[in-house]
Amino acid sequence: MIEIEKLQKGAQIGAGQVCIAPACGARFKLNERLYVCPSCGGLLDVTLGLSADADPERLRAVWTRRLASFDARDRSGVWRYRELLPFTDDAPIVTLAEGNTPLYDAPVSAAYCGLNTLTLKHQGCNPTGSFKDTGMTTAVTQAVILGATTVVCASTGNTAASLAAYAARAHLQCAILVPRGQISHNKLAQSLDYGAAVLELDGNFDDAMRVIRELAEDESIYLVNSINPFRIVGQKTVAAELLHQRDWSVPDHVVVPGGNLGNSSAFGKGFKELKELGLIDRLPRLSVVQAEGAAPFANLFGSESDVLIPIEHPQTLATAIKIGVPVSWQKALRAVVESGGSVLSVSEQEIADAKAIIGRDGVGCEPASATTVAGIKRLVADGVIGSDTDVVAVLTGHILKDTDYAINYHQGKLYTHDRAPGKTKEERRLAGNYNNPPARVKSTKAAILEGLRRHEQKHLGDL
Ligand code: F0G
Repeated sequence: MIEIEKLQKGAQIGAGQVCIAPACGARFKLNERLYVCPSCGGLLDVTLGLSADADPERLRAVWTRRLASFDARDRSGVWRYRELLPFTDDAPIVTLAEGNTPLYDAPVSAAYCGLNTLTLKHQGCNPTGSFKDTGMTTAVTQAVILGATTVVCASTGNTAASLAAYAARAHLQCAILVPRGQISHNKLAQSLDYGAAVLELDGNFDDAMRVIRELAEDESIYLVNSINPFRIVGQKTVAAELLHQRDWSVPDHVVVPGGNLGNSSAFGKGFKELKELGLIDRLPRLSVVQAEGAAPFANLFGSESDVLIPIEHPQTLATAIKIGVPVSWQKALRAVVESGGSVLSVSEQEIADAKAIIGRDGVGCEPASATTVAGIKRLVADGVIGSDTDVVAVLTGHILKDTDYAINYHQGKLYTHDRAPGKTKEERRLAGNYNNPPARVKSTKAAILEGLRRHEQKHLGDL
């Protein structure tokens, strides 16, 4: 225990794990191996008690200085902001130089949404191609500190790929539980290459999540799904990186996709702590977009109820967010409400078209990420977002995460899974409104020039 305490900021006043349930608020040490509150089952939050002696100017200067450093900690877009993390400088960090993801201005997507400008924060440019790496670096570091020998997660593919990579770096045994036949091949390929035990379950993500929580009762096994607050502490640093890249100018609105709702919780926590530290003077509105067939959080937000009703058979081709019982909904709700944001859902057609539009900005993403642009378009049309608003859409995964989806969209072969009685296959086909199918041509100069001409013709009235 003494050893562990040297690696964590346990001695700092106010540092610990706190139950977020208002009626509970129980506190635990940072080195206690917990996932939920042992008293009431509520979600846990890692707090640092930082604000008392914070000097925003000094923090800004230190973080900027680190951009020019070659130290592995400084090169990581997560550990660069280590003042926000619950570890000491001696902690045995497990890093793949995560974070450091670009901000792109996206004029085509902006025009599509009805905005003057739109910024994309591309978390798909992380080492394993998704935002999960920013939380996995801290969760696997915590696993090492706690002496775990096996790390596990349930996943729709990206958490699995990320964990598999970080576990390989840390030489830990790794088991990932994925719903069989329901995750993209590209993500599966990653986990196989990184050497994880890939366990394919009959059932969906929510079934995998339920089983894995039972598994984590075993002392040697450490669970790193986003229910684990040490995932969220890493992911929250993306808020700091985003603002740092904007020279601390706060956007009006930040929009993220919603699945298990760890990411939205992390952004909420990140912005709130930066405000408490005096680094920013207001919170951006945080909005969450779900896919229509897997939208329990959007349903909750639009209702009078204060309890989330699970969706038993979630359906969406954006398989990353095919989740019916999001674990972190209370944290996400708190973040959305406190910031004055909203929660909405978009159709499969809207997601597919938005994804193709983002591509026209030269920025590829996976389907789940495109819910953001689809959602922003909706919020502009509904008058919630004005055309001159400063909006950041967070893209969570790389285009190469789901190549089947992209190929099928462009070839007119993308079908929804909605098997309502009497619905024909043709009725389930998504329109290729912005598709760009490949053309087969003879290997002659004339045929190629003709192919080019036709391509130009087809896309003339596109956007
Ligand atoms: N976008 C992508 C690409 C994802 O992989 C996920 C979640 C989300 C958005 C939603 O984020 O769950 O924090 O609300 N993927 C998880 C996984 C569930 O297992 O890879 P969230």
